[in-house]
Parts: sequence; structure tokens; C-alpha cells
Amino acid sequence: MSSDSSDAFNKDYALSLEDPAAFWGSAAEEIDWTKKPGMVLDTSESPHGRWFIDGELNTCFNAVDRHVKAGRGDVTALIYDSPVTGNTVKKVSFFELQDKTAKFAGVLKSLDVKKGDRVIIYMPMIPETVIAMLACARIGAIHGVVFGGFASNELAVRIDDAKPKVIVTASCGVEVNRIIPYMPLLNGAIDLATHKPASVIVAQRPEEKAKLIEGRDISWESAMTTALPVGCVALKSTDPLYILYTSGTTGVPKGVVRDNGGHAVALNWTMKSIYNVEAGDVYWAASDVGWVVGHSYIVYGPLLKGCTTILFEGKPVGTPDAGVFWRVIAEHKVKAMFTAPTAFRAIKKEDPDAKLLQQYDLSNFEILFLAGERTDPDTLFWAQEKLSRPVIDHWWQTETGWSIAANCMGYGMMPIKAGSPTKPVPGWELDVLDEQCNPLPAGEVGALCGKLPMPPGSMLTLWKAPDRFIESYFVEFPGYYKTADAGFIDEEGYVFVMSRTDDIINIAGHRLSTGGMEEVLTCHPDVAESAVIGVADQLKGQLPVGFLVLKSGALKEGEDIVAECVKLVRDQIGPVASFKQAVIVDRLPKTRSGKILRGTMQKIADNEEYRMPATIEDPLILDEIDKALQSIGLSSARIC
Ligand code: COA
Ligand code: AMP
Repeated sequence: MSSDSSDAFNKDYALSLEDPAAFWGSAAEEIDWTKKPGMVLDTSESPHGRWFIDGELNTCFNAVDRHVKAGRGDVTALIYDSPVTGNTVKKVSFFELQDKTAKFAGVLKSLDVKKGDRVIIYMPMIPETVIAMLACARIGAIHGVVFGGFASNELAVRIDDAKPKVIVTASCGVEVNRIIPYMPLLNGAIDLATHKPASVIVAQRPEEKAKLIEGRDISWESAMTTALPVGCVALKSTDPLYILYTSGTTGVPKGVVRDNGGHAVALNWTMKSIYNVEAGDVYWAASDVGWVVGHSYIVYGPLLKGCTTILFEGKPVGTPDAGVFWRVIAEHKVKAMFTAPTAFRAIKKEDPDAKLLQQYDLSNFEILFLAGERTDPDTLFWAQEKLSRPVIDHWWQTETGWSIAANCMGYGMMPIKAGSPTKPVPGWELDVLDEQCNPLPAGEVGALCGKLPMPPGSMLTLWKAPDRFIESYFVEFPGYYKTADAGFIDEEGYVFVMSRTDDIINIAGHRLSTGGMEEVLTCHPDVAESAVIGVADQLKGQLPVGFLVLKSGALKEGEDIVAECVKLVRDQIGPVASFKQAVIVDRLPKTRSGKILRGTMQKIADNEEYRMPATIEDPLILDEIDKALQSIGLSSARIC
């Protein structure tokens, strides 16, 4: 970073904290408002701050229509690249996206979907998914996208919470080696849910046609042929744009609610400032629209900025090989790419010397961004060496919607430190706190917390759970947002994110609750008690392992119970939980007050040194845990 760009960053960073209204008010000028906001930041009602409260806008207009209006209708807005369906590539211009979105908004309107109504979108990575999201935004309906790898039960929980008028789905998803029919999963969810949607719209895919239920289901294709296009409605800045469910500390997911105005301003700002891309550049986030990365950086961020975004339906390996990322970057002239470190670990495992890279021309490619989990130094060094380009780790969460810490490439690159997502970005003042809420000195590990207000684009609330919202994030550390991540900040202000402070684990960049898995396991008739921990995994970062205490008199063989428990988690939560290992133990290690010592169990599993907890009920149990873990090839930790 030159001293000029470092000055520019420092100046902006300081302004964003000293005078957030001036900083974000200026960023808001890049957004088209139907009513310009007079007030930038309002902290009167909520602890975290609300943005642009008297402004009005439409997010879909800003992401699509305004580019057409500006004469950029012919520019490609979206490239759908699907190696899993025989290398299908489709390009959708801003004009076509506007046309299809306006028509699909007409379909929703004809089904009586109005401003504030919820629409659940349970779909794979196809253009219709993006169109459905934007169409909701166009008419002020609130979308709730549910990741396709979740099972019926998880979908049912979200249906009951969001109470959608309409569900939009597709006939199937396509994984590397199999077709996943969606209708049985969706029908199962609707059966389980108390709330029943009035209509289901189904995009029929050639790989598997779905049987529609008369009176409830409508085919996407036929509805679109008669649909009347609908324009963008003006919405209040603080009207909800979407709900995105994410894992909480119990099996009940948190419905993170995002607003329209703060979200549009913040995401638009990040595209240049963090990712260093401009309108017309090709930007690729290889994630899934079911996650926050997909919402922010497959759909809204790049489209708001007027970039071309890529919708990739494939995996980093096996579709067909570990060169597919290089093929997509070369073929579509990608300038900046964003994915999770696990994807690069998968490529490195298959093609350690990156031989496949030699086949492609990556001359347009400038930067690789990684997030979703900590970028381990091995992966960082490998990617840096093979790509000869900056590899930028950045840290954020579903709740924040965009980075908390990053190397803001639009200002010029700061020196990279392996294992750190660099420094807090404008809008975020971070402290590392001890349990009494005292800031800790540089280098000491504690709770990473952001001083309030949270910047625009952060969550507005939790859907229909205002008390949980306050309780989860703002009570333990007054005046701060609790990230629930632990870490430290070094002498030079670099942030290091080390672990979660709750029971969330990170599997292949996917956030899952061990508490949620335990709830499923204890539903098994022979299981009295269970504990799930995340153990280190070379590919996926972490994998869940279950410990089962059986009821006395359990009749089945242990092996059968384990197999049934594995199936139960897959059926109830979904394959994405990657729950494949469980062991039977006589008892679980607990403190004298009955708290399960999951942290100690995890250290044993990861073969790390651990201290014997002072409050442990019976130290001998840890030997039993060790033996059980050894039986599945884990452990042999030492007590220090
Ligand atoms: N619909 C249905 N099933 C799905 C699914 C979907 N949308 N997505 C994943 N699954 C299934 C997979 O088929 C797999 O099933 P299996 O147990 O029968 O093999 C299971 O869920 C686990 O999926 P995944 O974690 O993706 O593992 P994988 O072995 O298929 O692939 C990686 C491993 C590393 C290649 C893959 O996780 C990956 O590409 N990650 C990229 C990171 C990413 O997208 N992160 C999101 C946040 S940035
Ligand atoms: P999600 O809400 O699914 O995006 O998951 C957010 C969680 O993933 C964070 O709270 C972190 O625990 C973890 N995470 C995301 N990005 C990073 C990163 N760059 N470094 C360390 N942890 C990360």
C-alpha cells in the first residue's frame, strides 16, 4: 500500500467512526432513491442503529433497472455456468433480467403477494433463483432463501417461522453424482409445517420433471408466458428486504432480517472499496445463494454496482476436475473471485501442483478473496504461490452482511499476515473484551466485539424475535455487538479470528449448530443423552462427531444405533451437516454443575494438549472419551 492510499484508508476509517453519518451519507449518493434520506443514522430506538430511516428506494431498481436506464441494458448481468448439467452456459443481459424480473413480479402479484408478504425460495443455483429474489425485492415482498442441502424438517421450521404466502422451488437440484428431486423434500416440509402456503411455483428443469399438485402448484414456465410486467415499488429504507435463517445456539434458527437502504448503500460501497471492482467488471462468488455470501456477493453486491456476476452450479473438484475454477475464470474473464478456503483445500488435494492451471489464460484475473472460515496459512501460501496474485482473507457473518475485517483492496493492499483477515473495515471499531467487558491488550485472546452502532447493511433484527435479537447480541457486552467469535488483535491492529464462543461449528464454510444436531440425536428412542463436537478436518475445516449415551435396556446393536443416528441427522437437518461419525460412550464428561465439557472433548479429539478442568465431576471419564475417539481413528491427546 502506497503512503497515499494508506492515508486515504486511514482518513476514511477515522471518519466512519467519528462521523458515521457523514461517511455513509456520502456513500448513499451512489444509490438511486425515490426519496432522498434526510437522516442518515438513527440510534433512538434500537441499540445497534438504523440507517436512512426517512429515505425511500427500491433495491431491485438499483440492482437492475437503473443500469438499463443508464443505457447498459445490453451488458451481461448474469452468467449461469453449470458444469453439472453438461457445461450449460447462459448469459442474461441487464435488459433481459429486468424483463424476467418484472414478469415474475407480475406472477407473484397475481398470487396476491403484496409488500411485506413472505416468499420462501427453495431452489438450486439457476437463474430463476436470482429472478425470484429480485422480483420479491421489486414489489416489497420479503424473500427467505433456504439452502437446497437442508432437509424437509429444517425447511418446515423456516416455513412455520416466515409463514410465506408463496413458495418458489425447482423440480430438482443437481449434485456431482446425483439428481436431487426437490418436490418430495418440499412436500414433506409442507406436511410437517403448521403453516401452509397458498401456492407453490415450480421451475421445471430438464434433468427431472416434477409432478405438480393441482390447485396448489403452478409451473414457472406457464405462469411467465401470461404474466404482466410489474414496476418497482418505493420502499422505506428500513422495510425488510429479506430474512436469511442461520444457525443459532439451539435447533431453532435465527431469522436475520436485512433492510433495503442500509444494505444497498453498504454493499455498493464494498464492491469498489473492498473488492476493487467497477461496473462492467466480472465478479464471481463461488458459493450458493442459500448462504449470506450468495445473497451479498452473487446477487445484490455485484448487481448493485453494475458488475457481471457468475452463478456457478458446480463444485471446485469433480465437475469435471480440479481445473474448473481456472476454466470459469478464463472463459468469463473474471477479475475478482470469492470463495471459501475449503474449496481451495479441495483443489490442492486433487491437483497439488496446480498442473491444470497451465491450461488456462488467467490474464484478467486480479484477486482471490476467501471467507466463511479462517484461511489457514497452508492454503494461503499455496494459493498465493500457484496464482501469483493477492489472496485476501476477510471475516464476516450472516448477521453483518459484509466484512467486519478485510484488506480493503480498493484503497491499495496492506501487507498480508497469514492467519489474519487484516484490519477492521470502515464502520467497524473492534475491541477484544474479557468476561467483565474490559478491553484486553494487544495479543490477548478474548471476545471480538464491535462498538455500536453497527454499520449499514448489518441485520435490522431477528424475524419475529426482537427479544432474542437483543439477548443474543447486545446484552453480554453493553455498548457492543457480540460477534460470538473469539480472537485477538495484534500490536499493528491486525485481527486474528480463532474460534466461536458458542456451539456453532464451521463445516466446509457452512455454519451449523452442534446443539441442533444433539436435539436430533436425542430423538432416537435408544439415546438417553448426546453431545456433538466439531473436530478438525483437513478438507472441510471441521466435521461433527457425536457421542451417544444409550438408555439402559437398549435392544439394538450399538452399530445399528449409530447408523440410525447418522441417518436421522441427514434426514432431519440435511446432507450439508456432513454428520457421518458417532461413538457410543457410557457417560459424558461434565462439570459438577452438569455442564458437558465439549471444549475438553474437542481438544482430546484434535490431539491437542488440554488442562484437566477443575470442576470436572469424574476425571476418569476423559479416558473413556479418548478410547472411544481412538476407536474411530481420532485423539491420543495429552494432559498438560
Ligand atoms: N442440495 C442438496 N445436497 C447438497 C447441496 C445442495 N444444494 N449442497 C451440498 N449437498 C450435499 C452434498 O452432495 C454432500 O452429500 P453427501 O454427503 O451425500 O456427499 C453433502 O451435502 C455435503 O456437501 P459439501 O459440504 O458441499 O461436501 P462435498 O463433499 O460435496 O464437497 C467441497 C466438499 C469442499 C468441495 C464443498 O463443500 C465446496 O465446494 N465448498 C465450497 C465452499 C462454499 O461454497 N462455501 C459457502 C460459504 S462461502
Ligand atoms: P456465516 O454466518 O455462515 O457467514 O458464518 C460466520 C462465521 O464463520 C463467523 O462467525 C466465523 O466464525 C466464521 N468465519 C467467517 N469468515 C471467517 C474468516 N475470514 N476467518 C475466521 N472465521 C471466519
